[in-house]
Amino acid sequence: MARLAAALLVALCSLCWAAAPVAEALGMNWGTQASHPLPPKAVVQVLRDNGIKKVKLFDTDSAAMSSLAGSGIEVMVAIPNNMLADLAADAGKAKDWVKRHVKRYDFDGGVTIKYVAVGNEPFLESYNGSFIKVTFPALQNIQNALNNAGVGDRIKATVPLNADVYNSPASHPVPSAGRFRSDISGLMTDIVKFLAKNNAPFTVNIYPFLSLYLNDNFPLDYAFFDGGATPVNDNGVLYTNVFDANFDTLVAALKAVGNGDMPVIVGEVGWPTDGDKHAKASYAERFYAGLLKRLAANTGTPARPNQYIEVYLFGLVDEDMKSVAPGNFERHWGILRYDGQPKYAMDLAGQGRNAMLVPAKGVKYLPKTWCALNPNARDLGKLGANIDYACTFADCTPLGYGSTCNGMDTAGNASYAFNAYYQVQNQKDDACDFQGLALPTEKDPSTATCNFTIQIQAGAAALHGRSAGAAAAAAVLLALLQLLALR
Ligand SMILES: *[C@@H]1O[C@H](CO)[C@@H](O)[C@H](O)[C@H]1NC(C)=O
Ligand SMILES: *[C@@H]1O[C@H](CO)[C@@H](O)[C@H](O)[C@H]1NC(C)=O
Ligand SMILES: *[C@@H]1O[C@H](CO)[C@@H](O)[C@H](O)[C@H]1NC(C)=O
Repeated sequence: MARLAAALLVALCSLCWAAAPVAEALGMNWGTQASHPLPPKAVVQVLRDNGIKKVKLFDTDSAAMSSLAGSGIEVMVAIPNNMLADLAADAGKAKDWVKRHVKRYDFDGGVTIKYVAVGNEPFLESYNGSFIKVTFPALQNIQNALNNAGVGDRIKATVPLNADVYNSPASHPVPSAGRFRSDISGLMTDIVKFLAKNNAPFTVNIYPFLSLYLNDNFPLDYAFFDGGATPVNDNGVLYTNVFDANFDTLVAALKAVGNGDMPVIVGEVGWPTDGDKHAKASYAERFYAGLLKRLAANTGTPARPNQYIEVYLFGLVDEDMKSVAPGNFERHWGILRYDGQPKYAMDLAGQGRNAMLVPAKGVKYLPKTWCALNPNARDLGKLGANIDYACTFADCTPLGYGSTCNGMDTAGNASYAFNAYYQVQNQKDDACDFQGLALPTEKDPSTATCNFTIQIQAGAAALHGRSAGAAAAAAVLLALLQLLALR
């Protein structure tokens, strides 16, 4: 009987595997720079419901870590850039960090940490070199601390780097000519050698969307995977998409420093849906359909054919408080909306089915009340200043050129801004006044393309589903162990 049950289980499990081979291997970035972040338990549930077994964080938020405890989801935790200098200067601090953020979760039923991301894109040119000196020593101190704590064989430190750490010469712009950026080539070589010594992977973020955003002459089709672009010919190897070309430029750079076989993780890849003329749901759907199909087929790239590429999608949900310095699209990277609802069809299994993701469960909304321009408002001279105020504290990026709410009249703009602010302020009474210019309304001002959203209740999503008991038990155990560890 037991053997029959076991056999049945095996048969069932091989079926689930066959149904979602990509989702099993696929990673997801979980960012939390939102005015109303989805509750961590709802996030973990939505990951499970969609069969996602790997997640990448941008910190080690204790609520997120507690929710992940016992879930079996593999985690890449992260050290923010502003901590790198301290961790670089003092090995004792790195040791302490590992104790507090890795060791305390490292038990049966705790959090399955696989990687520690040391910094996030620290060598971006826009950081003016602020993290050039501290990143490598911080990486060394953290990996050494992991090794000394006896977990270095299972948990690897890596540095998620922006793809601008390598390039091909303008005179020979093909992937096989890829080298690390000349101003940091010595440093990159040292980092690669250190990663290799510790059997740790190289992590890079690749954004075909940005290639398009940053260059008006970039051929649209080359950002996607449909093969429609005029190929780039690299010594007889034809490249039809920028993802492959970018990945293989890195492979060439690694090869040039003697580590051509180093495992590469794509730490972020994705497509935003608002805030730019190319940031739209239809393009995101097309991009992911192509990417997921290739991942499912283990296509690899020309330099590394026939292999699965470990990829973390960016990102899970929209984040309405992200800096828009890189562009208005920054707040719209989610494959799910701010409230955990899917935006477009997406088959994580890469079979091209017209499927929707399972939405977040138990999300509760604020009442169906919007804030809009008062139709009887007199003093319209004050409108501009009030719109500016609202947009300083709330997300107005959908109003911009090429975005979903662009092209409205002044009244529409004002209502959009006032409502965005009112929602961020949890519909507080005095948050819909604007010197008498605004009034709450029960009538939805949304148009066919422009969504005047209702925010979710902060921290109010209930946890539903079968894992509730196990997760609660794990959380209690975790709290106990943390108490013990901190004594
Ligand atoms: C980098 O330098 C530019 C120009 O000098 C400046 O505008 C920007 O704020 C600096 N960024 C950082 C992160 O220091
Ligand atoms: C509405 O706001 C957008 C974004 O700020 C701006 O580009 C546009 O000119 C505004 N439209 C009107 C009619 O004021
Ligand atoms: C607008 O938001 C509602 C929920 O607030 C959602 O159901 C709907 O799909 C959204 N529409 C668009 C065009 O995004």
